[in-house]
Amino acid sequence: MRVAILGMGSVGKGLLQVINQKDLGITVTAVADSKSALMDRDGISIEEVLEAKKIHGYCGDTSLSSVDVVTKAAYDVLVEVTPTNATTGEPALTHILQALTRGRHVVTSNKGPIAREFERLHRCAAKNGVMLRYEATVGGAIPVIHVLQQGLAGNRVRAIYGVLNGTCNFILSRMAAEGLSYEQALLEAREMGYAEADPTYDVKGIDPAIKLVILANTFWKKTVQLEDVDITGIDMITNDAIRLAEEEDCTIRLIAEANPERGILRVAPRLLPLSHPLVVEGTLNAITIETDLAGEITLIGKGAGSVETASAIIGDILFIRDFHAGSHKKAP
Ligand SMILES: NC(=O)c1ccc[n+]([C@@H]2O[C@H](COP(=O)([O-])OP(=O)(O)OC[C@H]3O[C@@H](n4cnc5c(N)ncnc54)[C@H](OP(=O)(O)O)[C@@H]3O)[C@@H](O)[C@H]2O)c1
Repeated sequence: MRVAILGMGSVGKGLLQVINQKDLGITVTAVADSKSALMDRDGISIEEVLEAKKIHGYCGDTSLSSVDVVTKAAYDVLVEVTPTNATTGEPALTHILQALTRGRHVVTSNKGPIAREFERLHRCAAKNGVMLRYEATVGGAIPVIHVLQQGLAGNRVRAIYGVLNGTCNFILSRMAAEGLSYEQALLEAREMGYAEADPTYDVKGIDPAIKLVILANTFWKKTVQLEDVDITGIDMITNDAIRLAEEEDCTIRLIAEANPERGILRVAPRLLPLSHPLVVEGTLNAITIETDLAGEITLIGKGAGSVETASAIIGDILFIRDFHAGSHKKAP
């Protein structure tokens, strides 16, 4: 399987390292970052490209760009791991559309274009007879999209709810465990590298709402947009609120919930019994799926991280390979 990788940040580098370490039958024929690109149809040297990025800050030829890779490189799967833009989906949206139109499969961890243009991108993939996989956009290493699309095929998904943002979960966990104020816990999250300098996306609940949109579009099969989600973040949660919850053997978690039967699509802080499966600690994510046949299934795992996100991307690449090797009969 020949792959081209756009983006050499935390996820792109983690993916390159895993491909280099494991014998997965994946050849990297092109890479690009924001300033340069490198292409070789016989396969690039992963060690050399990682070293070049470390020394120079860019990975290849500065006269080439990501668009050269998408339109000219020799690859079967484009891996799109550039930064998320939830408003426009760019530059990933253009990269993905160009690759699909060229008849190439796409695997991405980029929430922006998948949440914004779910239907358009899937129509484009279908029209060109290729696959678009996006496991890494929700829940990091947790294979929730595979579970929804393959494992629970034939089930009716009644509802899905969960902890979809590790930064918020870390802050709430630390407030409960150490009696920290919201501001103190946020500062700690920043120091640990879990929160961005501008944490708005996370603490206002926008990031989990984008993930909820992707999940809802996946299992609901009708177009839902970010604007359809009722969003309340965690930035107004006080330590007193957490103490009061504890008096009732409960705690507070930021829960994203989609329930088509009850018309619910929301992200909000919720009171949960301490024994509830969604009460996970630190940066973990947890997702419960309610179905008619399988009953309730809860998945818990790492919601972010370089190698953890690479795990989800590799699962998608190998799914595409196996599908085309004939081990599956019909595209999901
Ligand atoms: N990190 C995680 O744990 C995680 C988990 C799940 C999903 N995601 C998603 O995965 C994506 C990548 O995350 P990340 O943490 O790896 O981000 P990151 O560390 O900010 O890296 C982004 C990379 O994209 C490159 N880039 C920017 N614009 C580009 C362009 N036009 N063409 C080609 N490359 C371009 C950047 O180039 P330079 O190196 O030149 O700046 C950088 O190498 C994001 O969409 C993120 O939301 C991340």
